[in-house]
Formats: sequence, structure tokens, C-alpha cells
Amino acid sequence: MVDTIVMLVGRVPGVCGPPDVLRATLRLMRRLFPSSSAAAAPGSAAVPATAPGDPEWSIEEIADEYAYPPLAEGADGAWLRGNMVASLDGAISHGGRSQPLSSRSDMWIFGVLRGLADVVVVGAQTVRLEGYRPARARAVFADRRAEAGQAPAPAIAVVSASLELDFSAPLFTEPVVPTLVVTGECAPDDRVERARAAGAEVVFAGEGDAADPARVPAALAERGLRRQLTEGGPTLLGEFAAAGVLDELCLSLSPRVTVGEAPRAMRGPALPEPDDFTLAGVLEEDGFLFTRYRRFRQSAE
Ligand SMILES: NC(=O)c1ccc[n+]([C@@H]2O[C@H](COP(=O)([O-])OP(=O)(O)OC[C@H]3O[C@@H](n4cnc5c(N)ncnc54)[C@H](OP(=O)(O)O)[C@@H]3O)[C@@H](O)[C@H]2O)c1
Repeated sequence: MVDTIVMLVGRVPGVCGPPDVLRATLRLMRRLFPSSSAAAAPGSAAVPATAPGDPEWSIEEIADEYAYPPLAEGADGAWLRGNMVASLDGAISHGGRSQPLSSRSDMWIFGVLRGLADVVVVGAQTVRLEGYRPARARAVFADRRAEAGQAPAPAIAVVSASLELDFSAPLFTEPVVPTLVVTGECAPDDRVERARAAGAEVVFAGEGDAADPARVPAALAERGLRRQLTEGGPTLLGEFAAAGVLDELCLSLSPRVTVGEAPRAMRGPALPEPDDFTLAGVLEEDGFLFTRYRRFRQSAE
């Protein structure tokens, strides 16, 4: 087995322990869907030649599997992908953190999704609870990102109405690319100024205190951030889904049961009718299922 040096962050940035550089072998993942004979889903990368029937995946093959579809220039070119891990009983946290549900392979997928993204969009509560740090430039993705015209690392875009954020934290003081704060036009002036003074770019995407979730993807795409990855939490993810702007959901199913009262992957007012998604891919390792669903309207186009 060939060793590959893979540099990743944990699913819980800043909390997952000191080793930021993980020495990993090829992943022994099985593709359960699509099968080797099936065509790749519309807009997805071609099925890697070495993958079907071969449990060993390099990080490049995983990145190919999760490649964003071709996107238009400008505000219309946004593609918003969500990534969450959930237990068998639907919990997305245990003790207020997602890390107890995660695994090494889940962190691998998490890192690949970041490695492909222009921007990571995250709710302020997840930033506060999980101690979010800036995304780092990963050598393993350097060539791919340069070829795609991407910055060395994805920007972090924190969605917040209160702007009650720690602007002295590394997320704002030490980013590879400046952190963004996405909010509404009536956000508190003093906090807007504090965000800017800390080096953040403030993006207004709503007329009130809050951002309008339907406007957030376009507002980021206008800035060239079209390959979008939201890491939740469930409040923000639910808003994106309800607004009809969540194009894809990468849901890791963790083979654990927690019981308890933890939220599920999305929360908020129920939709009038369930929204359909279609299965785009499933990988498996150590009992974890790495599912990928696309919003039905997008897949049918
Ligand atoms: N399992 C996983 O993969 C995973 C992933 C992420 C998070 N989590 C867990 O999820 C929990 C946190 O989730 P959560 O649902 O409580 O919070 P969240 O969605 O991360 O953040 C909610 C906050 O985001 C801001 N926000 C949301 N929508 C907004 C809008 N339209 N405009 C402006 N601001 C907006 C608000 O911030 P302000 O209060 O600043 O206005 C709001 O309080 C944590 O326990 C975390 O561990 C799990």
C-alpha cells in the first residue's frame, strides 16, 4: 500500500487535537453508488478508472469524485454544497460537538470538501461552539487549486445577525484569505466596524438584521466564490434548504447511536411539502456511509 501524506483539519476545527497533518494511507473505501457500470451523475466528474471494485482510493480520486460541476461566471454560478455528519438516530452532535460522531475517514472527506471549495459558509453559533479557525492551505490540493484559479485555501464566511463574534480570534487575525462576515444591512454599525477593523470583509445580503439565505450564494458568487461549502449548523443549513438554494448535501452517516435531544441536520419551520433530492453517490468505510445527494431540480436539468 502506498503511503500518502494528507494534510487535513478535523471536523471540529481547533478542537480535534494538535496533529493537523495526518499521515494517511490510501483510503480503503468502497463505492456503493454509482456502480462501476453506471454513468456518473450529471455534472459530476467521470468515474475514476481505478475506483470501481478497487477499495483503495487516493485523495486525488476522492477529490475527483467530489468535483464541483462546471459553473457559470458571476452571481448565477453559485453551487452550494452542505456537509454534515449524523448518527444513526439522526443526531448531529453529542455533548454539543460533532467530533464524537466523526471518524478518520469522515475527516478525510471533510478535508477534501474544503480542499475543493472557494468558500466555507458557516453559522455563527457553530463558529462560537466549535472554535472555528481559518482554513489552511493544504499542499495536497495546491496544484488543483492553482489550476482552478482558486486561492490557496477557502475563505471562511461566517453568517451572523448579531455579529457577536470574537474578532481577536485567529479566524479573523490569521486567515490565509480574509474571513467574510455575511449579515443584513441593519446589522449593528459598531460591530460592522469591528469586523472590518479586524480585516474581515462584510457582505450585506439582506435588508434587515439578518441575511436573506436566498441571497447569500449569489452575494458570495459575485465575489468569485462560486464553489460553496456550508458546514452548517442545522439552523443555517435549514434556512438554505428552505430557501431552495441548497444544491447538494454530503451527509455522512455515522454508525453510532446517541439517543438524547441533539438536533438533526436541519432545523427551522417545516417546508409546506418535502423537497426531493436524488442520490449522486455513496462511499463506505468502517461502517460510515458518505452519501451525496443533489437537489432534484438541479439533477433533472
Ligand atoms: N454534525 C455536523 O456535521 C455539524 C456541523 C456543524 C455544526 N454542528 C453542531 O451544530 C450546533 C450549532 O448549530 P446551530 O443550529 O445552533 O447554529 P448555526 O446554524 O451554526 O448558527 C446559527 C447562528 O447563525 C447565524 N445565522 C443563521 N442564519 C442567519 C441569517 N439568515 N442571517 C444572519 N445570521 C444567521 C445566527 O448568528 P447570530 O446569533 O450571531 O446572529 C444564528 O444564531 C453545534 O452543536 C455544532 O456542534 C454539527
